[in-house]
Amino acid sequence: MKITRKLFQNLIYFHNLERWPVELAETMRASCYVKKDFITEAEEKSLLAEVEPHMKRLRYEKSHWDDAIHLYREREQRKWKEENLEVISRIRSESFGPNTEHLTYVHILDLHKDGVIKPHIDSIRYCGDVITGVSLLSDAIMRLRHKDRKEELILDLLMPRRSLYRLGGPGRYDFTHEVLGESESTWNSEKVPRDRRISIICRDLPKVTNRAKEEEIQLKPIPEEN
Ligand code: OGA
Ligand code: MN
Repeated sequence: MKITRKLFQNLIYFHNLERWPVELAETMRASCYVKKDFITEAEEKSLLAEVEPHMKRLRYEKSHWDDAIHLYREREQRKWKEENLEVISRIRSESFGPNTEHLTYVHILDLHKDGVIKPHIDSIRYCGDVITGVSLLSDAIMRLRHKDRKEELILDLLMPRRSLYRLGGPGRYDFTHEVLGESESTWNSEKVPRDRRISIICRDLPKVTNRAKEEEIQLKPIPEEN
């Protein structure tokens, strides 16, 4: 079923809004958001053309070492074709401040149609203050839960195909994030079909005091913490 444009007008939904401290809700609105149509169909195609040949060689993994991700394959990529690098730069300038130290590797996460990302917080040893990415191939819902009030302070972000999402501020350290499977993916009571989704994710360097050793940052995939 094709989702009507109207359903896509609001890309953020606060569960139990009446229980949210007003300031926290406002801060979250300002620091965690989705931008629709951030890339064009042609840009999506071009990113896929560069990413697909590598992905095809990998098998989908049943689960991540700490069990956060199911049915995924992933890769880190540093060098990009010029036209795709332009898109990566656009993602970075949209989501980070001007003096950011960027992680040179871009994380590519290919989530199978039946794959899910369970609630987790990215490790402070490997990433900085902001996580941002674009979604290719499928719409999906990202759910944020306050780490101490997991069943109460919940925020959903609808990420249409080709949109950008950004998680910063308290959304980065005080909330877990997850990507819902198809059975849970509803928006305004309408089902959101979940197909295979590839995300192109940019991060900044961890704060100096939290940093893991340089080689670990550069060469290993980004681990998660619960
Ligand atoms: C991650 C993650 C989100 C995404 O890799 O840690 O949360 O957009 N990815 O795929
Ligand atoms: Mn994550």
